[in-house]
Amino acid sequence: MNPTQAPMPADGPKTVLIRIRRQDGPDKPSRWEQFAVPQRPNMNVISCLQYIAAHPTTTAGLATTPPVWDSGCLEEVCGACTMVINGRVRQSCSALVDKLGVDGEPITLEPMRKFPVVRDLMVDRHRLFDDLKRIQAWVPIDGTHDLGPGPRISQKLQERRYPLSRCISCGCCLDACPQYTSGNRFVGAAVITQALLFNDHPTGAALKEERLRVLMREGGVADCSKAGNCVEVCPKEIPNLESIAAVQRQATVQAIKNFFVR
Ligand code: SF4
Ligand code: SF4
Ligand code: FES
Repeated sequence: MNPTQAPMPADGPKTVLIRIRRQDGPDKPSRWEQFAVPQRPNMNVISCLQYIAAHPTTTAGLATTPPVWDSGCLEEVCGACTMVINGRVRQSCSALVDKLGVDGEPITLEPMRKFPVVRDLMVDRHRLFDDLKRIQAWVPIDGTHDLGPGPRISQKLQERRYPLSRCISCGCCLDACPQYTSGNRFVGAAVITQALLFNDHPTGAALKEERLRVLMREGGVADCSKAGNCVEVCPKEIPNLESIAAVQRQATVQAIKNFFVR
């Protein structure tokens, strides 16, 4: 039998092959290991990983360590389970085996490519969260006392902001972005989009100038080459290109203001 094809015992359950790029820690070499998992209808990639963790024996019959991955919500909300599945970055909790169209071929799982690997499929996404802090991606309110009703937000503005609020900080857009590399400081689409979300909020606008100051430096919005990969891979269909164009316009207006107020 071809070792890359899933065994299909006549009387047993159908199996799916899972090939995982394993790495024992940061700066350790990577290797591939393959596992056979009994296939059930509607199973997702995480349930395959759970089976492998409980039965860590490769298809070559070698005992190995349980693979490590990250997850939280299991419903495509937290972004923690993001990995590269059959070459495409996406969430493993919403990747259903039946829909991956593998048909006897192995499903390949690899860690995200732009963040440092912690172990196996788990990566360190600190850079993304640090950049969100740098641009102050929040509405500034002082304390938890009752501030009364917030400013009214028009229906039109709500409709413009809502799609941006759906970002789950998964980092798919960064993984697919040719400009986002370990050798530069580009913040990427997710951070630029969140800057727009909070710049356009009546209270969040108090920090607009500070956010734009960060995004007008090296690694800011001008470093985007508008390839659009960030839109294609976004699981929440966030209009990243439009957000980037809007923040570029805000940055231009801010630069003109800065020129006259010097
Ligand atoms: S448009 Fe291209 S360069 Fe700009 S953030 Fe998206 S993927 Fe990166
Ligand atoms: S913009 Fe989309 S791809 Fe990027 S972090 Fe947010 S949800 Fe993920
Ligand atoms: S576990 Fe939260 S997005 Fe998959």
